[in-house]
Amino acid sequence: MGTYIITGATSGIGEATALQLIREGHTVLAIGRNEDKGSSLESNGEGRLYFFPVDLTDSSAIDAFFEETQEDFPEIDGIFNNAGTFGKPVAPERVSDQQKEVFQVNYHAPERIIQLATKRFSKGASIVNNSAIVGHVKFPAMLLPYASSKSALLTLTKTYAARFHGKYRFNAICPGPVDTALSHALYGGKDKFDLAMKHHLRGEPAQPSEIAEVVCFLLSNKASYINGQALIVDGGYTLT
Ligand SMILES: NC(=O)c1ccc[n+]([C@@H]2O[C@H](COP(=O)([O-])OP(=O)(O)OC[C@H]3O[C@@H](n4cnc5c(N)ncnc54)[C@H](OP(=O)(O)O)[C@@H]3O)[C@@H](O)[C@H]2O)c1
Repeated sequence: MGTYIITGATSGIGEATALQLIREGHTVLAIGRNEDKGSSLESNGEGRLYFFPVDLTDSSAIDAFFEETQEDFPEIDGIFNNAGTFGKPVAPERVSDQQKEVFQVNYHAPERIIQLATKRFSKGASIVNNSAIVGHVKFPAMLLPYASSKSALLTLTKTYAARFHGKYRFNAICPGPVDTALSHALYGGKDKFDLAMKHHLRGEPAQPSEIAEVVCFLLSNKASYINGQALIVDGGYTLT
């Protein structure tokens, strides 16, 4: 059984993945900001889920997380860099410094986490970065910082895969629409999101657990020959 770091474990895709890893018998170091949610996750974590309140815009808090966990968890078997934000949708010519947070959370935090975790990776460790179809095959006009941060995350993924020659694996997932707080906010509320999803090829979005299955597969040795890939997980959404 392994020890896995998951960011954004307090909600949506990250929460579903944390709970699936716990069901599989692993240990999870769960990162998020919502401390109430973190405590309730710990209660459901069968004594193997540890919550760490970390704001990923604060690189010193990321460093502190690694120092705090060094003694009890000297070996890391995998990471799911999942936390993300889309900022405030604006036209590309109106993007301002206020959007820097998007890059900090979506790109710089995974970059820092991987740098610090590398020294602690076990043999065959697997890293999965949560990118998106946005920034890979879709480029909505109002989401430039989000799309560019997700593209940059794909580059980070492939560069690290090349760097370690298969000693550790680095892959990214690119989900289509998933039924979570983030996508509800992006569409201006759950009702609007549900309505828009009637145009999805299969008539509905993914549930977070459907994405978690893919992440847990990529984290596991069953995916031992998959490295440096950006896997679209969208139920056919981008076909139409
Ligand atoms: N939903 C979709 O349709 C979709 C599609 C493609 C890709 N994605 C990607 O999937 C990932 C997970 O999103 P989700 O859909 O599961 O949304 P969600 O339910 O809203 O979860 C977002 C998570 O990110 C965490 N987070 C955000 N900013 C943070 C910060 N500054 N510091 C620490 N944690 C932070 C949140 O933690 P707290 O609540 O504790 O702050 C939360 O756990 C994101 O990277 C998103 O871009 C989602």
